[in-house]
Amino acid sequence: MKILGIESSCDETAAAVVEDGRTVLSNVIASQVEEHIIYGGVVPEIASRLHAEAINGVVAQALEKAQLRLEQIDAIAVTYAPGLIGALLVGVNFAKGLAYAAQKPLIPVHHLRGHIAANYLCFPDLEPPFLCLVVSGGHSHIVAVEDYTRFRIIGKTRDDAAGECLDKAARTMGLPYPGGLNLDKAAAGGDCTAFSFPHPRVEGAPYDFSFSGLKTNVINLLHNAEQKGIALSQKDVGASFLNAVTDCLCENTLRAARDEGFQKIVLAGGVSANSVLRKKMTDAAALNGYELYFPAIRYCGDNAAMIAAQGYYEYQAGNTAVSSLNAYATMGIDES
Ligand code: KG4
Ligand code: ZN
Repeated sequence: MKILGIESSCDETAAAVVEDGRTVLSNVIASQVEEHIIYGGVVPEIASRLHAEAINGVVAQALEKAQLRLEQIDAIAVTYAPGLIGALLVGVNFAKGLAYAAQKPLIPVHHLRGHIAANYLCFPDLEPPFLCLVVSGGHSHIVAVEDYTRFRIIGKTRDDAAGECLDKAARTMGLPYPGGLNLDKAAAGGDCTAFSFPHPRVEGAPYDFSFSGLKTNVINLLHNAEQKGIALSQKDVGASFLNAVTDCLCENTLRAARDEGFQKIVLAGGVSANSVLRKKMTDAAALNGYELYFPAIRYCGDNAAMIAAQGYYEYQAGNTAVSSLNAYATMGIDES
């Protein structure tokens, strides 16, 4: 079954064709990073307009690269939640028009479910159940993936997402958007013990995260140094901060895997591209005998191949959309 996936929830306009949820036939991404860089972050109105400009061309390219005509596609999957509402609406409306015109089934896909499915593209034998740490710009979840379309949230952030926290820290350090990626690069080779950052815990909720205090801590450190005219090593601050954030992510994930009896641990979302997180989880998995999976870097960030992959399993579960499908800025991964 060949599915055309469409993704427009944030700042990438993306389309892809994936066969049977596993084989990528094409994967086209038009990134808006250059347009948002001068603002230091994504400007929602600009994002929506750029999606509207790019979407026809991106979808046409995805079909062309897959060497398929629209009639040869079996269904159209689209991200309908969560994300920037104006941005989501561009993709949803485009997909609805396309599905209506070509008389194809339309499949609504939750963006975070898509991030998890990015792993199916990289590991043909990976099947649920498994435990997944989903870390993106807006979410930090520990999820029990009980089946392809059945999710149970075990832990989540009480305030900022890990990606959001890394982006703010990077911005205060003077690094350009996208912050997390540039912080990862800037911290390479730094001394992760140079600065001591707190490892916040949530009382009575051993799998939940809290990153806002950690974020305030690094911002205060940088501002105080600036006021006193002290030059701090960007490498060392970055490495120490990344060390604290990834410690929190790893500790809670490993605790949840142990307590819930999972043997397989999966990482997903933009922050799963982080070199420190990947290294720490690899070492911890080897030490404790877990099977660990994380996507190839090109599938960690937003893309439409992951949407088409999850779309396949949503279709198998009978989750197709009616013609009045809407987009939603917020929606739990366990809702539909
Ligand atoms: O999943 P994603 O591409 O978009 C959302 O769904 O939010 O995640 C974006 C987040 C941003 O916060 C970005 O800074 C972060 O992922 N990110 C990274 C890295 N690459 C992207 N964070 C840390 N290290 C990276 N290498
Ligand atoms: Zn994402």
